[in-house]
Amino acid sequence: MKKLVINGGYPLNGCIRISGSKNAALPMMAASILSDCDITLNRIPNLADVRTMIALLDSMGIKIEKNHKSSFTFNASEIESKFASYELVKTMRASIMVLGPLLAKHGEAKVSLPGGCAIGARPVDLHIQGLEKLGAMIEIKDGYILASTERLIGSTYTFPKKSVTGTANILMAATLAEGETKILNAACEPEIVQLGELLNFMGAKIEGLGEDCIIIEGVENLEGAEIEIIPDRIETITMLIAGIITQGELKIENINPLHIQKPIELIGQCGAKIEISEDYLCLKSSNEILPISFETNPYPGIPTDIQAQLMVLNTVAQGDCEIKETIFENRFMHVLELKRMGANIEIDGNTAIVRGVSRLNSAQVMATDLRASAALILAGLIADGETIIDRIYHLDRGYERVEEKLSNIGAKVSRID
Ligand code: UD1
Repeated sequence: MKKLVINGGYPLNGCIRISGSKNAALPMMAASILSDCDITLNRIPNLADVRTMIALLDSMGIKIEKNHKSSFTFNASEIESKFASYELVKTMRASIMVLGPLLAKHGEAKVSLPGGCAIGARPVDLHIQGLEKLGAMIEIKDGYILASTERLIGSTYTFPKKSVTGTANILMAATLAEGETKILNAACEPEIVQLGELLNFMGAKIEGLGEDCIIIEGVENLEGAEIEIIPDRIETITMLIAGIITQGELKIENINPLHIQKPIELIGQCGAKIEISEDYLCLKSSNEILPISFETNPYPGIPTDIQAQLMVLNTVAQGDCEIKETIFENRFMHVLELKRMGANIEIDGNTAIVRGVSRLNSAQVMATDLRASAALILAGLIADGETIIDRIYHLDRGYERVEEKLSNIGAKVSRID
């Protein structure tokens, strides 16, 4: 199994370029099911999750053409199967986003339940409830969601709890439903906004993107479209934190400042100087890092996907802080590993109390999920000596060419078998 080896203690300096967003790419790939025409997505990141979605769409008979390095065209006019196997869904929960499009376009779908997940229960009950509200008949049998309908009928669905992929599923399904659908307490994440924009380019009639209430007027069919995927805001913040904790100076290119306003405001409190331009930011670190307390929240709040990385920043801050995780109930699995590297962290329910220490030590550690892997890399970058991170397949799900990007700005990191 592949591992990452990091020799800590080197400041990161130079220029780094952010990839296209994984969480924007995945739903837009699924959206191609809704049309018989070409959907072209540019700047798709080369990630394990993207390859899983390609494998899933390919298994359904969707034609996928690689135009060049990061541009793909999807054509679902000759779809053969409306089936998403357990094998594919279990490796990536986001596969559930084929359910809404299949049902809306073809009136039937058989999609595996995602099953357990390292960062909590992560059920899909709201996806199912929302589709039922649009008139779908849904049965759960042998671990599969069996869904069918003559045609979905527009309705109002209020999410009892904000769900990103849940909103994506209902939004996509509603584009081809008969009449008007209202999604209340909808997710406002930039990735959902871009999904809606793509659907509108395809001929959908969606209003209220980025707001709590999204209104969709169903249409008979959707056309082709082309879009460039937004920059990955989670990778942006991860690299920014890497620069801060190694006391480096970085220029981070291909960012969208509007998508990271709250995290940048928060991180600014640690003392680093961050200058934002239209599509890049410049970081000048300070010698001391001040602790920053925060809680995770749906967009525009602090994303749960940067909680683990921000915790690493706090492990070496000058003082104590509290970190409250409000989205996932079991997302502190990186804490045990960070403690093995010398961090002083105490867990009290969904709150972590982090007391800054002067340095971390290296250790052999194990990645438990995608963002935990990123946190361990960050910790490795500042630890004394050689840190070895096992199970980095988690990392490859969401960070493109991470060791190459980090090496280019001065990190001592390599991959071994
Ligand atoms: C998406 C992101 C993921 C991010 C998460 C929260 C993608 C592909 N993934 O995941 O990176 O960490 O948003 O920002 O975009 N819930 C239910 N029932 C449901 C659906 C969700 O109870 O049917 C709960 C979840 O357990 C969780 C909360 O709602 O506690 C939010 O989850 P959700 O926004 O759905 O996460 P994902 O869409 O899976």
